[in-house]
Parts: sequence; C-alpha cells; structure tokens
Amino acid sequence: MSKTILITGASRGIGYETALKLASENHTVIATARSKDKLQELSKAANNGQIISTPADLTKPEDIKKLADAVAGTNGLDGLINNAGVVHREAFMDTDIEVFKKLMDVNVYGIVRLTQAMKTHLKKGSHILNISSMSGYQGSLKFGGLSAYGTAKAAVVGLSEVMSAEFTDENIAVNCLCIGAVQTEMLAEAFPGFEAPVSPQQMGDYIANFILTGHQFYNGKVLPVALNDPG
Ligand SMILES: NC(=O)c1ccc[n+]([C@@H]2O[C@H](COP(=O)([O-])OP(=O)(O)OC[C@H]3O[C@@H](n4cnc5c(N)ncnc54)[C@H](OP(=O)(O)O)[C@@H]3O)[C@@H](O)[C@H]2O)c1
Repeated sequence: MSKTILITGASRGIGYETALKLASENHTVIATARSKDKLQELSKAANNGQIISTPADLTKPEDIKKLADAVAGTNGLDGLINNAGVVHREAFMDTDIEVFKKLMDVNVYGIVRLTQAMKTHLKKGSHILNISSMSGYQGSLKFGGLSAYGTAKAAVVGLSEVMSAEFTDENIAVNCLCIGAVQTEMLAEAFPGFEAPVSPQQMGDYIANFILTGHQFYNGKVLPVALNDPG
C-alpha cells in the first residue's frame, strides 16, 4: 500500500537517495531542503511515485509553516524522516560557540520545529525516524574535530528517546539511527580523501526500508548502523 513520507535533507546525499527509493516503490514523498533546483532534479529523477518538493530552511519558522501547509494537502503522514544535517570539523579549542549554536539550530532544533509542526498530521501507526551519527553514539570511538557535530548528534539521541516516551501512547513510533561513514558530499567536505564503505544509495535503500518496516520491530531505539568504529 502506498505511504506518505516526509523527508528532510532530500536535495543530496542520503536524503536524496532515500527519497528516490521510496518514490521508486510508488510512495508519495514530500521532499524538502533549501536548494529548490536540486529538489526539482530529484522530482525529475523519480520514475514512479510522487515527489512533492517543498523547499524550506529548517531554521526558519515561516518555512516550517510552508511544510505544514504542504502536508495538510495530503491525507496525513505515515513517516517522517528527520535526515537534514550539517557538519563542522575543527579542533574543539578553536571551535567558536556560535558554531555549536548553528549546528544545534539545524541538526537538533530543526527536528524540534518540524516534528512539533507535523505532530497533528502523523497518523496512528506512523513512524518518526531521526538520523543521528556514530559521532553522537555513546561509547563509540570518535573522530577528533567533531565536537560541535557530536554534541548535536548526541542531543538527537536523547531527543528521540524522550519523543518516543511521549508518543508511544498515541501509537506513533520514534527511532534513531546512528549511522557510520557514508560516501556523500558532507563526508568529502569534512574528511577529504576518506573512503567510506557505504554508498548513499545503499544507505538510502536501508533507510527507505527502515521507515516503512522498522517500527514493526523497534520503538524508542537508538541503533548503530556502522561497519567500522569510528564511523
Ligand atoms: N555522510 C556520512 O558519513 C554521515 C555519517 C553519519 C551521519 N550522517 C547524517 O546523515 C544525514 C545526511 O547526511 P549526508 O551525508 O547525506 O549530508 P549532505 O549530503 O550534506 O546532505 C545534507 C542535507 O541537509 C540539508 N540541509 C542542510 N542544512 C539545512 C537547513 N538549514 N534546512 C534544511 N535543510 C538543510 C541539505 O540541503 P540544502 O543544502 O539544500 O538545504 C542536504 O540536503 C545528516 O543528518 C548527517 O549528519 C551522515
């Protein structure tokens, strides 16, 4: 049966591939990111299903409203994938507090703003999936230079667990995937020359399947999805 899924960070990388995979399986995908042109490319690339591309900056409340309006035009959400994120690599002692605030604003408060706005549109039996990182997974080996990123991604872990505690009675599942290195532009920008063992297509396929079926097996779970440690 066709589902309706909202995914953030769909203009490139993992989000783009996840959206394509869902569309290829005839699901309706509300795809968002700031880059309007890249979202249009995504719509063209999708052969099946329906991509409703809605440009939005997750740090702007007026853009969150645009997304809520787009979703209000559907029959409700079966899934919400909070995938958008930004990275910053710099030694902790050189990282300005403003960088920490910026990464929190996109990676964490973006999820807060969007999920609060989408809550009334999430159907019973729906699934919220927050994409964190091994950088925020307790006990994993860490890459140096990712203090602001790791702080934000660890916050996504805690946020996901509390959201699950509050939404379970309403039959809305919340899970969090802490993913390892995937060969995207984000990774190449932060770690030039590093070769990740997983492609964006592979991770996109995994996430597309997980948003559709993962909540049959998991709720309130924080799962590492990584071949190596670190990342
Ligand atoms: N690649 C990895 O190795 C890796 C590892 C662990 C975790 N992750 C996580 O996986 C997710 C996807 O990563 P990726 O590698 O695919 O990254 P990416 O290629 O850099 O894509 C990031 C996406 O987030 C969107 N975005 C950034 N700032 C935004 C904002 N203010 N408002 C709305 N959208 C915004 C970008 O679109 P616009 O620029 O068009 O807005 C883009 O579509 C991220 O949460 C990342 O932290 C990635």
